[in-house]
Parts: sequence; C-alpha cells; structure tokens
Amino acid sequence: MTGASSGLGREYAVQLATRGHDLVLVARDRDRLEGLATELVARHRVEVEVVLADLTDREELARVAERVGDPERPVDLLVNNAGFGSRRGFVRGELAEEEAALDLMVRAVMVLSHAAGGAMRARGRGAILNVSSVASYAVMGHYSAIKAYVTVFSEALATELAPHGVTVTAVCPGFVHTEFHQRAEMNMSRLPDALWLEAPDVVRASLDDVSAGRVVSVPSLPYKVLVGVLRVAPRRLTRTVAGSLAARRRAPHPPG
Ligand SMILES: NC(=O)c1ccc[n+]([C@@H]2O[C@H](COP(=O)([O-])OP(=O)(O)OC[C@H]3O[C@@H](n4cnc5c(N)ncnc54)[C@H](OP(=O)(O)O)[C@@H]3O)[C@@H](O)[C@H]2O)c1
Repeated sequence: MTGASSGLGREYAVQLATRGHDLVLVARDRDRLEGLATELVARHRVEVEVVLADLTDREELARVAERVGDPERPVDLLVNNAGFGSRRGFVRGELAEEEAALDLMVRAVMVLSHAAGGAMRARGRGAILNVSSVASYAVMGHYSAIKAYVTVFSEALATELAPHGVTVTAVCPGFVHTEFHQRAEMNMSRLPDALWLEAPDVVRASLDDVSAGRVVSVPSLPYKVLVGVLRVAPRRLTRTVAGSLAARRRAPHPPG
C-alpha cells in the first residue's frame, strides 16, 4: 500500500488490518508509518512491514517494485494510492513539481502494477486497486490528465488480467477530507459540505467494489451521478464549465 502515512492510504491500512490482512506500508514519513504499524500490530495482531521510499525516485521505486513482485512473499492486494495535488495552473507552477506528479501518480502506478500484476498472473489470483479521481473524467489541469491515465490504464489492465484471475479497480473519489488540499495549499472554504466525503466511507465502498471485482469504483451516489453525466456530456461543454470554474477561482475575493 503506497501513501499509507495519511488520508485514504492510512484508512486503507486500518480497514485491511481490521479484516485481518498483513500489510506492507510504503511512504516517506518514518515516524507516521512506524506509529501506524505499532498501532495495527497491537490492535489487530497482523504483521506489518514498513518500507520507506520516495516513489518519485527511480531507485527507491525499483526497490519497492522488487518487494511487491517477490514470489516468496506474495502481495494479494496492491493499493496504488500515493499522490498529491497542485493549486496552481500548469504553466504557472514549477515544471519539477509537474514531473514529480507524473513520476508518483503515473510512473510509480505503472511500475508497481507491472511488478505485482506479473506475480499475480503467475499465481492465478490477486487484485490491484489504483486510486484515481472523479477528476479523471473532467478537465481540471494536469491532475485530470494524470488521473485519466490511471483510470484508463486500470481498465486496460483489468481487461488483460481478467482471464488470469486477477482484478484491477480504479477508485474515483470526489473531494475527501484528508491532508490532500492542505498539502497543496488549496483554499477549500467555499466548497459546499454536501460535496465532501469522509475517508472511511470511501475506503469501505471501494474495498467492497474490489471484492465484487468492479473495474471502476465511484464511491457515493452524488459522485456516481456526476461521473455518469461527465461520461456522456459533450466534451466541449465539460471544457467550458471547467474554464469558467477556473476563472471564478482566479477572480479576486469580494471584500469582507
Ligand atoms: N483527498 C481528495 O479529495 C482526493 C480526491 C480524489 C483522489 N484523491 C487521491 O487519493 C490519493 C491519496 O491522497 P489523500 O487524499 O489521502 O492525500 P494525503 O492525505 O495528502 O496523503 C497522500 C499520501 O501520499 C504519500 N506520498 C506523497 N508523495 C509521496 C512520494 N513522493 N513517495 C511516497 N509517498 C508519497 C504521502 O506520504 P508521505 O508524505 O509520508 O510520503 C501520503 O501518505 C491520491 O492519489 C489523490 O490523488 C484524493
């Protein structure tokens, strides 16, 4: 499980441990990962391995891929979850940050899916859960393009691995209360409460979808409806709406 130190990843770890699964937790924050591991071992009597890695670093990613594909220590469920957002437009941000986003949310997802998918195919069973986003159906900056990759890649891999007993699920949440927006310094104060999801609900719904072998999981009814609309809406309309939302975000706040 990547990105296990906070937000959705931490919640995946908690819920999987509650169901009795041993875990391999991957992220950069040693204190948080070791603290979580201690808590889960004590509370659920599962085995928890901590792997510190910056997944944007090719050598560190290769080390994680080796662990994930190790036939001696099989991983039954790979959760590709680590990610981050950006509040700036594509050209106004630093190119290095956009490259890191690509390395983490595209390259790492692809490399770890290759390692785990190969091992699972050989065993004839397994599951891969890739955390994508509702944004993969929209046109909200580079992030949408990255998450569109995750959704389409997951669908393609699901098709390839289905005959071999391996499922692949793209999880597409809407806005979730985690550290995601705070880390990206996004001001979310104007987002209506009705659009917020809670991590435990997203994780529970998506794990149920993985168990059911669903290829795309969209937690919560309002976001299922939104994705249904985005799938059939003319692309020009989607671009127009995205453009006017972006313009509203750039407009100066009214005084007071
Ligand atoms: N929150 C939302 O509204 C929302 C909506 C749709 C999709 N998502 C997706 O959900 C996933 C999880 O995000 P979250 O909302 O749970 O955010 P979060 O609370 O900020 O957690 C992000 C996780 O990613 C890890 N991470 C970041 N950079 C990393 C790197 N270079 N190497 C290894 N791990 C790294 C972080 O751990 P360390 O800092 O310890 O490395 C942390 O555990 C992301 O893929 C995100 O795109 C979120």
